[in-house]
Amino acid sequence: MRITLKQACDRLFSGDVVAIPTETVYGLAARLTDVRAVQKIFTLKGRPQDNPLIVHVSQIHELDDLVEHVPKRFSLLKNFWPGPLTVILTAQCNYVPSVVRAGLETVGVRMPDSSLTRELISTTGPLVAPSANLSGKPSATCPEHVEADFGKDFPILDGGHCTRGVESTIIALTDAGHWELLRSGAISREDLEKVLGEPPFESPADLAPRSPGQKYRHYAPQAKLKLCEDTKTLTELAKTENFSAILGFDDSPTGLPLISLGSRNDYATNLNALYSALRELDARGFDAVLVDVEFLRTGLGLTLIDRLNRAEK
Ligand code: TXA
Ligand code: MG
Repeated sequence: MRITLKQACDRLFSGDVVAIPTETVYGLAARLTDVRAVQKIFTLKGRPQDNPLIVHVSQIHELDDLVEHVPKRFSLLKNFWPGPLTVILTAQCNYVPSVVRAGLETVGVRMPDSSLTRELISTTGPLVAPSANLSGKPSATCPEHVEADFGKDFPILDGGHCTRGVESTIIALTDAGHWELLRSGAISREDLEKVLGEPPFESPADLAPRSPGQKYRHYAPQAKLKLCEDTKTLTELAKTENFSAILGFDDSPTGLPLISLGSRNDYATNLNALYSALRELDARGFDAVLVDVEFLRTGLGLTLIDRLNRAEK
């Protein structure tokens, strides 16, 4: 059900959860300080309680209530806001409810690049919003995806199709003066390195993931995916009886129905098409799908391979 800005605002103030547009993916939003509404988000999504939520703000000064202090280096990142960058900072635990942080002492904050949603936040105050999909399913990049997961009656503030189509990049600015890349996303690691002046600190592999969400299966269609590093192998496998479709690019091998993500190595376009394509595989009933992953692992190519790897598991 599509609702107006005023209706979204009224519903949020009365303790409801509504779907909101952002440039990355749709979010399932509640007011930060409304603990009961926040809890509804976990129930609706089937989300584990140990997976914290991102707080969305409309202006930088909203950070003053949310975090203990804003590190100096944060100012280097200001050109990424509004935009698809989530920054993990030390939370003001007496203001940011524990359920939002999943008990951590940090909070993830971002300013979405959707003027509609920022206008909403300027009235409601900060909104917490995970991606508007059932836990484990591909994220929603248009209102139809939200309806597919939560039903036709679910209230959606319609902002059309998301312009990025993949989640924000998540970084942590640590007290030790490093930065860490917790989730690759719509901003490339290279672009962040340029601005922050150094590569991200790599935590030892045996430490628990710093971003709890990274340990769960994600972005996965029902269809079983098999990633193929080169088109030659893919062509051979396509000749066997075991697969029903190919997920790839305009110039991928033929022989089976092709779901294309656009031109090879055009990562922004590929990422924008990805979640619709994963949902399409299921809608068309393909059970086993070959995935063409012969593309360069640079820039947003790293985000593309990250999401495809997670979809395969
Ligand atoms: O683009 C996006 O980021 C979208 C839109 C709606 O803003 N949101 C999104 O939310 O992708 P979600 O909940 O699907 O993913 C949030 C990720 C999870 O992996 C979670 O573990 C991590 O952010 N996260 C949130 N707060 C954190 C914190 N304090 N420390 C470490 N990781 C955190
Ligand atoms: Mg998500």
